[in-house]
Amino acid sequence: MAGVRGKKVLLGITGGVAAYKSAVLTRLLVKSGAEVQVVMTAAAAEFITPTTLQALSGRLVRQSLFDPAHEAAMGHIELARWADLILVAPATADFLARMAAGMADDLLATLCLATSVPIAVAPAMNQGMWSNPATEDNLRRLATRGVLVWGPDSGLQACGEQGPGRLLEPERLHQLVNDFFVGGDLAGVRVVLTAGPTREPIDPVRYLTNRSSGKMGFALAAAFANRGADVVLVTGPVALATPNGVERVDVETAREMDEAVMGALAGCSIFVGCAAVADYRPAVAAGQKIKKLEEHRTLELVRNPDILARVAAQPSPPFTVGFAAETQSVAEYAEQKRRAKGVDIIAANLVAGEEGGFERDQNALTVLWEGGMRELPLADKGQLARELVTLIVNEYGKRYPTEDPR
Ligand code: PMT
Repeated sequence: MAGVRGKKVLLGITGGVAAYKSAVLTRLLVKSGAEVQVVMTAAAAEFITPTTLQALSGRLVRQSLFDPAHEAAMGHIELARWADLILVAPATADFLARMAAGMADDLLATLCLATSVPIAVAPAMNQGMWSNPATEDNLRRLATRGVLVWGPDSGLQACGEQGPGRLLEPERLHQLVNDFFVGGDLAGVRVVLTAGPTREPIDPVRYLTNRSSGKMGFALAAAFANRGADVVLVTGPVALATPNGVERVDVETAREMDEAVMGALAGCSIFVGCAAVADYRPAVAAGQKIKKLEEHRTLELVRNPDILARVAAQPSPPFTVGFAAETQSVAEYAEQKRRAKGVDIIAANLVAGEEGGFERDQNALTVLWEGGMRELPLADKGQLARELVTLIVNEYGKRYPTEDPR
């Protein structure tokens, strides 16, 4: 497992009966040349002793946020920067909930909050806990932030029940860590995406905008990054954390977004326009707050640059993917947009329905390209993003068979 050699793996162990498997995983990682720093929660120490893990890893096991030997020099921040990968295995339902909530109530949770290195979690819990909507919701939030979720397996559980929730076997986790370091199939492929809404100022306190939350675009950025791509995410104002491993550029207006995208295109292989860019902006943004003097006011609007069309019209354009937000005749209008803007793929969504579209956690897409069409049914945006990325990469691979993104 050459990918692991010389890598620094911070192995977080939380309190479940599967914690014994982490001892074997530690041994496998160390044998393949990784440096392993174990961090245990208090509950984990009820299942396996720090002494065992210290002997296997050859390093002092870290357990407390308030350890005077380390914390005099802000040791937890140092540790958060030390690793090349944080793997929490087993990750209990409780730990996933704390992580999803951004809590920092013990050393391991604090490290996960403070770090900017990739994080993988290997869930292990009773099948009822695994299927609980609370856990599903927490996993969804973590996946949207770019956290890798490895497993779980299904089968007989320690409690005697049967179902999903078993920790992956140490050999499988070892393999996943190795694959992670070898790099995904998109290693070296530069992807530029847009996400979120734009804000077009009317005066210093008012603006024109729309309902985009950025969830769809951020999920796509995470899905590309998880496959090893170099991802630049140009985003309008949203309340979302940057997915791990993604370079984020914050903008407000369509013109700022256009400038940021054009500046990021050098070396770009795939462009995805998921942002809900305002088609128009006020012709003049007043310098001072507009006073309520007249009974009627008219706001003159002028066209914004069409970023997607401009990318597709570059002399040597990247493989270009657009979105189409439609309230009726979704496939028909989307195909018209695809042709008019000259893009390779368009992913169309219904935005006035009962489900999916703006703001919601789920979406459904009709994906169209020259001579092809595929329906991606309603699913969590993280899942949908992974499916769309696979489809994009397939079509990109057909177009440029000599390049090797797959
Ligand atoms: O952000 P969420 O809340 O998760 O919602 C997701 C979404 C509904 C915003 C997303 O799935 C979506 O549909 N994004 C595109 C929204 C949109 O502006 O669609 P459109 O049909 O108006 O634009 C067509 C395409 O042209 C889009 O790729 C858009 O990014 C691009 N465009 C539009 C106008 C413009 N001036 N410049 C552009 O680049």
